[in-house]
Amino acid sequence: MTQYPHNLKPQKSAGFGLGLRTEHYHPFIEQKQPVDWLEIISENYMVPGGKPLAMLDKIRADYPMVMHGVSLSIGSSDGLDYDYLDGLKALSKRVEPLWISDHLCWIGVNAHNSHDLLPLPYDAPALERVVENIQRVQDYLGQRILIENPSSYVEFRSSDMTEWEFIAEMAQRADCLLLLDLNNIYVSGRNHGFDPMAYLEALPADRVQQIHLAGHSDMGDYIIDTHDAPICNDVWELYRASRNIVGDVATMIERDDNIPELPILLAELDQARAIAAESAVVVQEGTNG
Ligand SMILES: [Fe+2]
Repeated sequence: MTQYPHNLKPQKSAGFGLGLRTEHYHPFIEQKQPVDWLEIISENYMVPGGKPLAMLDKIRADYPMVMHGVSLSIGSSDGLDYDYLDGLKALSKRVEPLWISDHLCWIGVNAHNSHDLLPLPYDAPALERVVENIQRVQDYLGQRILIENPSSYVEFRSSDMTEWEFIAEMAQRADCLLLLDLNNIYVSGRNHGFDPMAYLEALPADRVQQIHLAGHSDMGDYIIDTHDAPICNDVWELYRASRNIVGDVATMIERDDNIPELPILLAELDQARAIAAESAVVVQEGTNG
């Protein structure tokens, strides 16, 4: 297993970003927008050529980027798809991303892609498999990757640890980094009845390199992680609380459906900046006093 630098994340975060969506290609090309970086969905650009790659190259010339995938299937017991990894590595050479991430999930069996991020049982065999897969991916790419906590609607009877215990152990053993999706914690917390704060406090803070903020659909008895609405107040409060736990971490808004004009998302990102600035003041006052 490759040994990576001892320092897990940079002293200063990469700042505030947005997920790059086709609807916003032109505003990003025509004018420098107030974002520090953009997150791309890797699979959208793992293609031989055409308009998406041409747009990507144009936008990349002006903005740092991070790569976020949905098809790594890190929990799969089928083993890794090395054709997929070849494509990911080739895209990474082109984009030179700040980092590469994917989800804690599996996506299908026997080469059949369900196009869903399916949940894992939180037990020792699944942990073993995920740790081994992450180590192989990291060795293949020659860098640590970030793994994102999922949102889920079902639990497995075979689970004998909590999701946060599983993720903490996984990160430690695989020596990977974490993408903390606060909306996913909120959604799963409501669906399964756990306390999001207990989750946050149990994670290895020094491994959290990025935060996702997103909206969801509240159905009353349960929540669906739709990414089609503004961030709700409870998730903003979770973000405020997270700053005191994981510190200054690169933050972005993840909007995938019902996509508004760019200024609306930029205003939402300003809300994240304001909360981060407030918590920085509180930390500073605490340090001085
Ligand atoms: Fe996310």
